[in-house]
Parts: sequence; structure tokens; C-alpha cells
Amino acid sequence: MKMRIAVLPGDGIGPEVTAEAVLVLEAVARLFGHEINPGSHIIGGEAIRRHNDPLPDATLDTCLESDAVLLGAVGDPAFDNYPTKLRPEAGLLRLRRGLGAFANLRPARLFPALVESSPLKPEVINGTDMVIVRELLGGLYFGEPRYVKDAGVSEAVNTMRYTVPEIERIARVAFELARLRRRKVTSVDKANVLECSKLWRETVKRVAAEYSDVKLEHQYVDSCAMALVARPTSFDVMLTENLFGDILSDEAGAVVGSLGLLASASIGGPVGLYEPVHGTAPDIAGRGIANPLGAILSGAMMLRYSFKLETEAAAIEKAVEAALADGLRTSDLVRNGEKFVTTHQMGQEIVSRLTRV
Ligand code: IPM
Ligand code: MN
Repeated sequence: MKMRIAVLPGDGIGPEVTAEAVLVLEAVARLFGHEINPGSHIIGGEAIRRHNDPLPDATLDTCLESDAVLLGAVGDPAFDNYPTKLRPEAGLLRLRRGLGAFANLRPARLFPALVESSPLKPEVINGTDMVIVRELLGGLYFGEPRYVKDAGVSEAVNTMRYTVPEIERIARVAFELARLRRRKVTSVDKANVLECSKLWRETVKRVAAEYSDVKLEHQYVDSCAMALVARPTSFDVMLTENLFGDILSDEAGAVVGSLGLLASASIGGPVGLYEPVHGTAPDIAGRGIANPLGAILSGAMMLRYSFKLETEAAAIEKAVEAALADGLRTSDLVRNGEKFVTTHQMGQEIVSRLTRV
């Protein structure tokens, strides 16, 4: 198979982790006889510096002409005082919208070797295996009106808005995914306070009628945040709107040992977007110590969802599992003073563990 992949390294640790993900994808392609064609493009802070635009047209056009997009991370403290629409993050939001990527899948599974890395007790964390299905193109992130009054000194407005078709399509993604797993969907909302959430709950219930083989439960987001640390094994597929999903997925990262491990797929449009859940980590950027596994596992999700290469995707996941079982750890996975490998060493260790079986 031929794979044209647009690589958007972005800011902070983004370039470091995507470099390893690309090496792993190239190694998988060699091993299984595929042709891969990764080309690098600019987004985020770097794009603002060079083109005064966090998502230059050329980048979006190239992504739309590719088979899949691999992104590192965007965000840069240098632009903290810029208007929201001109910040690096705005580039990513426009990219998601431009690609029609409304369904963001964020798996959070405890690798057995990482029980010690989780802040939770082994008996609480053992067996944790969930996927957060986050709606990615609606809610407060995109709702209109949005504005600041008087240069932001007296009033600012954001709007949480959802339409029934938007809720229906993401709910279907969650139910379909649950069918491939343990057949349980937990829908997260704040239906006791928000109209949007009430519509969300009613719509999800209606869609659920088409999936009588899947168990549906509803949780308020505050209670869900608690349950995620108190009984993480109770979740299979967690279905949430955009902002709730953003918050809960960082929490899920900590629960399974490190946000650096979490991968994601943003799908639903013509071209899939794959990115680790973590941010740019400016505090460790450029030091070669970031965890590349979130990016590498995003590459696996790309093979699975954009190219339907399940065996190849599983090969990456098995190599990651094996490296962790062999005791390899990046800096985020160890306690102070313990030894760890660099970003690039971890990438190489994954490559060396790839096999066809
Ligand atoms: C994420 C990030 C993004 C988001 C930012 C960088 C816009 O936090 O992918 O979780 O809020 O969606
Ligand atoms: Mn986030």
C-alpha cells in the first residue's frame, strides 16, 4: 500500500516525538512491504512566526491532499497574550474543522508493566481499559457568538451549542466502538444544569435504541471525574462533548501512568488526523527526554483507522508493550532519581521490537 502522510511536528516537544513516530511508521512499512511518503509541514507557533498565520493555507491544502495527518503538538507561551484566534492552538482547531474530524478517539489502557507509574493503588487501576470518544467540532470550542468586549476588560462570551445531528453522529461512533469492545457506553453531561447537556442526554438515549445490545449509562461530568479515579475499570467507552472530553482525557492520562502515553485519532472526515493527547511541554522541550509513545501509538491508530492495516497497527502496539515490559521508561514514567531513556532511544527500542507476528 502507498501512504501519503502529512507530518505536522508543531511546537515544543512536538518535533521530537513526531520524529520517532515517523521512524516507527517507516520501519513498519519496510517490514510489511508498504510505501510511505511522509512530508513535513508547518503549523502553530512556528507558522505564526514565519507566515503570521497558525494554519497557512498551504498546510491545510496539503493535509486535504494526503491520506492521513500526523501532528505533534501546538502551543507556545510566547503567544499567551495574543487574541485567541491568532494563537497557535487556533491553527489546530481550524485544522480539525477543515478535515471534518468530529470524532476524537482517545484510548486509555493500563499497560500491565506500568502499574507502578500510576498514582492509584494497583487494586484500583488493574484492568483499566477505556476509550474516550470526544466530540471535536462543537460545544464551547466553536459555538457562536464568541467575543470579548472592551478589549476583554469587562466581559467575554463563549457559547456552548450542539445540534441534534452533531450529537447523533458522535453517539453512533461511540456505540459502534462499544460493539467491538465490552458493549458499554457511559455518556457524560451536565444535564442537571445545561440545556445543551439535556439535549445531549435525550439524543444519546434515542440513538441507543438502535443499539439494544450495548449498555448505556449517563453520568454528570463532576461525578464522572471522581469515578475516573475511584473506579477507572468501570469505564469501557466514555462519550463526551468537546470540553468535558478535553478535561477528562488529561485525567485519564494521569490515571494510566502518564499523559505522555495517550494517543488519539480524530476521524469522521475525508482525512484522519492523528495526534498524541499531550501538549507541547515547554518545560522539557528541546531536551530529548519527552515520551514519544503517545505519538508512536497515534501512528498505530493511523494504520488502523486510515489504512485499515490492523496487523501493522497491532505490531506497533505489541512493540510498545514489549519495551515497557522490558523495563524501558522515559522521564515521565520514573520517580526522581531513577534511570530513564531518551526520546530517541525509546523510538529505537520500539523499532527493534517490531515483528510480523
Ligand atoms: C487537546 C489539546 C487541544 C484541545 C488544544 C491544544 C487546542 O488540549 O488536543 O486535548 O483543547 O483540544
Ligand atoms: Mn487537551
